[in-house]
Amino acid sequence: MTSKGTDTISLAGRDLVSMRDFSREELLAFLDAAEGFEGYDQPILAGKILGTLFFEPSTRTHLSFTAAMQRLGGQALGFADAKISSTAKGESLADTIRVVENYCDIILVRHPLEGAARLSAESTRLPVINAGDGTNQHPTQTLLDLYTIRQKRGRLDNLKIAFVGDLKYSRTVHSLIETLTHFDNEIFLISPQSLRIPADFIEELDARGTIYSEDEDFFSLASDVDILYTTRIQQERFPDPVEYEKVKNAYRIDRATLDKIGGSVTLMHPLPRLNEIATELDDYPGAAYFDQARNGVTVRKAVLSLLLGIDRV
Ligand code: CP
Repeated sequence: MTSKGTDTISLAGRDLVSMRDFSREELLAFLDAAEGFEGYDQPILAGKILGTLFFEPSTRTHLSFTAAMQRLGGQALGFADAKISSTAKGESLADTIRVVENYCDIILVRHPLEGAARLSAESTRLPVINAGDGTNQHPTQTLLDLYTIRQKRGRLDNLKIAFVGDLKYSRTVHSLIETLTHFDNEIFLISPQSLRIPADFIEELDARGTIYSEDEDFFSLASDVDILYTTRIQQERFPDPVEYEKVKNAYRIDRATLDKIGGSVTLMHPLPRLNEIATELDDYPGAAYFDQARNGVTVRKAVLSLLLGIDRV
């Protein structure tokens, strides 16, 4: 394992809006706490309520947070579709948050606009967790991704990590790449030209001295890549459907593809997948995408417990 976070770090009452707000020690504290929540189902959050406000579709984030809350004895309430909330009548996000804070102890928000989670956090005294804001951030996905990387590879440093697919619009990629600048790894960015990672991320990689390269060709990857993190082309973010059509099948990883690059790679994907990873790879020993989804519950138990300031007994 890489170095551990310290037991003295308190995250009680903090918002989890952006990974930029957390130090390396703090994010390791989340991961270390999560290890203690593997298979742990005691009702330490009894009497606590999670408000779940989803203004965009979700399966994993919504249900795994709900499962985490319920497995620790708490409850969740909210909506999975903004069309059935008073947002449909024109209520602002800030007003929605100010009202919902009366009904719960911690708030989870997914929204299509970048900055919506920050605005939510500024509108309430309760801790706010960003469940994804537009193309910006998805911090709890990053924590579960790091947790899975550490679980599969035994460390968070000295890895060769390739990101493949839509690097322009994927918030899971943006969050994870930014957070990886706390560690010492080599990053490979593989995308169509039109879906390159935005310039501010490149500036951050440069500023932090992270070694990286950009390429369109998947087969530019060497056989000693440790992590292959592939992502869906985010159709819903494209202003022009014609541009989506041009790139929608840019990369497809199957057994022949993996055989060609060789090595023993851990294959990750935040899910949902479309055709980026062939289902024939689901039993490939390095396939980690369903483990990521399962780890989501464990990591989110730790997030809820730490932000609510309630320790495991
Ligand atoms: N990975 C992820 O955020 O999945 P959902 O959109 O289903 O929550």
